[in-house]
Amino acid sequence: MEAAISLIVKDILTKKELSNLSKEFVLEKVKKFLETHKKINEKMKKENYLRLQRAKEYKELVKTIRAELREVYGVFILKDYKKRYELLKELKKNPSIENHNKILGLHKSSKERLPYYSLVYKKIFEIAGVPKRIIDLACGLNPFSYPFLGCKPEYVACDLSEKDLDFIKEYFKIMRIKGSTKKINLIKSNLYEVVKKNDLVLLFKTLDSLETIKRNISGQVLRNIQGKFIVVSFSTKSLGGGKIIRKEKRAWFERLIKKLGYRSKIFEIPGETFYIITK
Ligand SMILES: C[S@@+](CC[C@H](N)C(=O)[O-])C[C@H]1O[C@@H](n2cnc3c(N)ncnc32)[C@H](O)[C@@H]1O
Repeated sequence: MEAAISLIVKDILTKKELSNLSKEFVLEKVKKFLETHKKINEKMKKENYLRLQRAKEYKELVKTIRAELREVYGVFILKDYKKRYELLKELKKNPSIENHNKILGLHKSSKERLPYYSLVYKKIFEIAGVPKRIIDLACGLNPFSYPFLGCKPEYVACDLSEKDLDFIKEYFKIMRIKGSTKKINLIKSNLYEVVKKNDLVLLFKTLDSLETIKRNISGQVLRNIQGKFIVVSFSTKSLGGGKIIRKEKRAWFERLIKKLGYRSKIFEIPGETFYIITK
């Protein structure tokens, strides 16, 4: 059974846009699926893997898990992502803003805010102060916006994918940034050990997709963060890029902040709304 599960994980990860995710993370999802889907569970005990692969229950499993992984991860990876180490080499030779932008442009979320990075950090620091340490949760490639900060804080980059975190680690080394990386699954991890009171916490464009995986997780994540300032952002454009997401759709988040007794200030750039939350 364990061998078959491991082959399923491998199969799920063959999709290019998911290939940077860790096996362990996918394994957990497969196990959870098997707990609640008896038919495939039984088939797995009886059939060999080749036969199993042809079963409709198997296809259903792979499809469901891939869809979930795409929603939280794959959909943001743009087509040139595989060129990232080449671009990092260029950046090493010449750490210009242009070369940083090329890497930020490989991820949908950072690409969208490219023209506004300096403005975003200026607005955040006006309220939260200039940080000594930043904790970037579900960071994607956002750590590559370091030159736009206009200050030199320590930087802790946290996300799901070890491969992506290794890439960021390499960048910190090249730029001699006092930085580190931490693999964190926000749905499971306890953030108490990661975040200290004076840290500035960034949580950009992630809560919407976490909510689709686990409802009401946002309150738990916010409560778990010890930092005084948390900056949460939401995309105001639909994933396809076309439709504008209506403001009322975010009312749940404003109600949550109120319920938790936090204060918040809002600002917007085209395509993204930021909440600077004070605990
Ligand atoms: C939309 S991207 C945002 C990236 C970055 N914060 C930005 O705005 O530039 C969402 C990020 O959340 C990460 N993510 C998804 N589910 C997660 C989880 N359960 N725990 C930690 N990170 C997660 C993904 O790997 C991805 O990098």
